[in-house]
Amino acid sequence: MLDVRELRKSFTGPEGARVEVVRIPQFALAAGEERALRGESGCGKTTFLNLVAGILAADSGIISIDGTDMAALPEPARDRLRAAKLGYIFQTFNLLQGYTVIENVVLGMSFSPGGADFRRARELLGRVGLGHRLEHFPRQLSTGQQQRVAVARALANRPALVLADEPTGNLDRRNSRESLALIREACRENGAALLLVSHDEEVLREFGRVQDFASLNVAAAEGAP
Ligand SMILES: Nc1ncnc2c1ncn2[C@@H]1O[C@H](COP(=O)(O)OP(=O)(O)O)[C@@H](O)[C@H]1O
Ligand SMILES: [Mg+2]
Repeated sequence: MLDVRELRKSFTGPEGARVEVVRIPQFALAAGEERALRGESGCGKTTFLNLVAGILAADSGIISIDGTDMAALPEPARDRLRAAKLGYIFQTFNLLQGYTVIENVVLGMSFSPGGADFRRARELLGRVGLGHRLEHFPRQLSTGQQQRVAVARALANRPALVLADEPTGNLDRRNSRESLALIREACRENGAALLLVSHDEEVLREFGRVQDFASLNVAAAEGAP
């Protein structure tokens, strides 16, 4: 369902030189598959996920989701497809501070074909244990609870693929374990593929099979920058 070919992304470094951060010849993920990628900080994991999510534009290469090459689509269609197919759990959660818990989840639905669905938002928030916090604002929640809102939001559109960027990086050990279990279970229940990146061995240990990001990303393997 996710197919990446010859993906490249470079940034301009402090001295003005271009530094290649991502160069991935090939990467594929099957429908419903769960994949954990291990990589040291700075090796390009977030950049890769942002490219897949369309938050960053690639220099070149193909990212195809369910057979559609994202870069070949005009922007409005790309945004719609992305909203319909992808859920993203950010390392820092990226919740909208001016909106309540339930609004944060519903806003994630606004691009989806079904539109805002408060019933589904309530249901999802109930499942992540926040049924009693619907009208709270993010700042009124613990870090673990904020993370749960982010999980519910990522699943709001019934995505085919969930991206998780160091999803437990800001949590203590207990919350980290619970949250990871929740993400995996929610993806399984929803039939969503899960692509998780982390540098945390404790997190990675939970997965049967872990792939080294450096084995995918030739740019990182070459020791750039
Ligand atoms: N917008 C940017 N401009 C310049 N350099 C960047 C930018 N984003 C990331 N980088 C650089 O790209 C490299 C990889 O970053 P990142 O993808 O965040 O790594 P990771 O998520 O694995 O820690 C780092 O060296 C970082 O400094
Ligand atoms: Mg990162």
